[in-house]
Amino acid sequence: MDESIPDYGKVLDDLVQVALAGGKMILAGAETIHQRNNNAVKEKLNSTDLVTETDEAVERTVMGLLKAKYPSYRFIGEESNKNEPLTNEPTFICDPIDGTMNFVHGHPYVSISLGLSYMKRPVVGVVYNPFYHHLYTGAVGSGAFFEDFRGKRQLPMRHSTTPLEALSACLILVEWGKERCGVNFETTVETFKNLSRQEGGFVHDLRTFGSAALNLCTVATGAGDLCWGGGWDAWDVCAGWAILLEAGGKMVDGNPSASLDEPPLGGKRFLAGKSVP
Ligand code: IPD
Ligand code: CA
Repeated sequence: MDESIPDYGKVLDDLVQVALAGGKMILAGAETIHQRNNNAVKEKLNSTDLVTETDEAVERTVMGLLKAKYPSYRFIGEESNKNEPLTNEPTFICDPIDGTMNFVHGHPYVSISLGLSYMKRPVVGVVYNPFYHHLYTGAVGSGAFFEDFRGKRQLPMRHSTTPLEALSACLILVEWGKERCGVNFETTVETFKNLSRQEGGFVHDLRTFGSAALNLCTVATGAGDLCWGGGWDAWDVCAGWAILLEAGGKMVDGNPSASLDEPPLGGKRFLAGKSVP
């Protein structure tokens, strides 16, 4: 066996432990988020793009734990990234809090999202919502799983009995994104309109939950049919994507003119589909 190929099972077990540790920090941070001078909230791109002290503290802890265990692996985290290009080497791709806007508002749809890429592909993923104790995991060749207080189940949990034949039967997860002007925003608004209106896709409904990672996991479970998003970075999608693939789902470019090949991790626009028989 090539020594450089990661042991996906071991990485998965370690990422679960790191996610649980990070989850405890997120819960502790949620207690102090509204105290004056504590857990400061800062703007990044604009007022819809926030980072808190908890995001930064969780990322430092995650990075420290992973670097101690895997000193030769690369690390890309949302809050410390310096636009490093993705390489073929094993690379942890992490978002300390995916759903920071929810976190700031005290809404519990929040996750820590820890992925591993190898040869530039998502190969291991752990997404954990500490508020609900929902744990999603997946590693190449081992399947994908969901665990909560009722136990552990393999994904997908809910299959549709027929292929996805019509948009009108779909529950679609979407996000407004953080760019609220310009051509990308107008495309988003038009797409939402076209999908929802009776003369258009007339879909069952659209959901905007606020965490790309949890959205992808929801499609992996089968509870969501499709997930469409733009402006997503590798840390938004890496872990959820690995889980989705192991659950039998598919990821393609979110642009209608693009091919149906799997897009690169840095592809920004994504359309995820659930597993269908
Ligand atoms: C955001 C969430 C959101 C998505 C944004 C992401 P963050 O991540 O995943 O659902 O629409 O594009 O940036 O900022 O909470 O880590
Ligand atoms: Ca984040």
